[in-house]
Amino acid sequence: MKKIIDLIAESVSGAFVASGYEEKYGSVSVSNRPDLCEYQCNGAMAAAKAYKKAPIMIANDVVEKLQSVEMFASVEAVMPGFINIKLSTEFLTSYMNEMLSSDKFGCEEAEHKKTIMIDYGGPNVAKPLHVGHLRSAIIGESIKRMGRFMGHKVIGDVHLGDWGLQMGLIITELKKRQPKLVYFDDSFTGEYPKEAPFTISELEEIYPAASAYAKEHPEYKEAAMQATYELQHGNRGYQALWNHILEVSVNDLKKNYEKLNVEFDLWKKESDAQPYIPDMVKYMKDNGYAYLSDGALVVDVKEESDTKEIPPCMILKSDGASLYNTTDLATIVERMKLFSPDEMIYVVDKRQELYFEQVFRCARKTKLVDEDTSLRFLGFGTMNGKDGKPFKTRAGGVMRLEYLIGEITDEMFGKITQNHEVDKAEARETAKVVGLSAIKYGDLSNQASKDYVFDIDRFTSFEGNTGPYILYTIVRMKSILNKYTQTGATLEDIKAVAFDESNESAKSLLLEAVRFNGVIENAFAEIAPHKVCAYIYNLANALNHFYHETKILAEEDEEKKKSYIALLVLTKNVLESCIDVLGFEAPERM
Ligand code: ARG
Repeated sequence: MKKIIDLIAESVSGAFVASGYEEKYGSVSVSNRPDLCEYQCNGAMAAAKAYKKAPIMIANDVVEKLQSVEMFASVEAVMPGFINIKLSTEFLTSYMNEMLSSDKFGCEEAEHKKTIMIDYGGPNVAKPLHVGHLRSAIIGESIKRMGRFMGHKVIGDVHLGDWGLQMGLIITELKKRQPKLVYFDDSFTGEYPKEAPFTISELEEIYPAASAYAKEHPEYKEAAMQATYELQHGNRGYQALWNHILEVSVNDLKKNYEKLNVEFDLWKKESDAQPYIPDMVKYMKDNGYAYLSDGALVVDVKEESDTKEIPPCMILKSDGASLYNTTDLATIVERMKLFSPDEMIYVVDKRQELYFEQVFRCARKTKLVDEDTSLRFLGFGTMNGKDGKPFKTRAGGVMRLEYLIGEITDEMFGKITQNHEVDKAEARETAKVVGLSAIKYGDLSNQASKDYVFDIDRFTSFEGNTGPYILYTIVRMKSILNKYTQTGATLEDIKAVAFDESNESAKSLLLEAVRFNGVIENAFAEIAPHKVCAYIYNLANALNHFYHETKILAEEDEEKKKSYIALLVLTKNVLESCIDVLGFEAPERM
């Protein structure tokens, strides 16, 4: 379906043309003075310069042409030349009815369908999944879902960190603790054991221990670097160990992501890029892109227009070892080869912005991607505690994701069981669903690039701009609709017949509901899930206002009642589509 704002603009542009002015002046926007009008056009002000006329005269010309257009309840020219527009309830009603019978409630799929890869999650194996990785998972998942809703082919890749120094550290620590393990016997040629010599909890203790030890002991760090190099260059025993580490970690990660309702299409790893590295390096050297600088192989990526210093992109260290950059560039090579995406979106901590700037420039300059392949970095800010410092446990440690989810679920369970008798098992399930909305909405409702305060009390509240409030609103509608159908009425093919012009709360709700397709399209184009949140918060407020102002089930006029119900059906569907795109869902009751 055409967006409502485009329909309005078409009509207004037509009136500009009919009055002898250029079409382009007819663009409209949602009013910033809702007390005066619903939509507005400021084109007369711009046209005034071009046509050397007073803006109000132009506005008057245009408004005159719009007087008998059915779409509008009123169109007025006001000083100095604004055009204020109110839509007719009839037009809104027919638009909403069309939404009800359209696929995706009027949200049209993109004309040009793209293949888009999203690099998100980005956990590191052998390190526990902590809140730092939470944001990437939540935001990336939402962008993936939005893209699919718009009809694109979207491939989500977790891009595990499995190829860096942390691997060498773990191997070195294991060797120190259990030197007799067969993995460290160079003369061993047999098959390595199937079982890993550690559990996930042991693994998670080993890494921080090794990392702390390495900081104090240079020779130990040296050994870990050597082990990393050997792992990357074919040491059999180390590779067998690394396989164990991977398996144990990935199992644990999958469990965690499942709890978050986050699902990856690809479980690719940094190491998967390794086979592409030698050819890529040769290609960069042969084509004169890469050169040696202090023994390291680098590609210059600075540009004349730079206002800050952009250092060269390092491809190989002086000892020939690959780096984070190397695997990222080789991963781009792999992605182009396997999927030839039109777009790659990276959802990563914003502190890596400069790094990605280098990588993207390098990929473009060396033509690893096609000219029209878009590379986008979506950097997110830090999730802070109420003290304004990065979020920690009460004891001050790094918060494991599982504990955080557990804490929120308990909090929700307490709230749900507090006021009324409910089945405990059902309340547990509901608490999980509502808890997840609290975490995800709390995150997504902030612009990704900003830091935000993770405030459990606020996020789990049923009031205010929160996930539970949105769910509560949906559940309220479900309950009304259930009562309606229990009287024998049906919701199938339900349509609105008429609304009273005087029912302002119904009109406000209509005005919000019909914006759905425009909001989703725009939020995806700007990769901005927070815009979907802002929209559903307004929509939920409009619904609740309408609910308080209007007798719905008790309405005696059947036509009116049916129209109200149809409006609820649409609002519920729009809200549910939006939260699905954000990555959570609503329970039946709460
Ligand atoms: N593993 C990385 C980290 O924890 C994030 C990976 C982001 N993606 C990428 N292609 N580099 O910082």
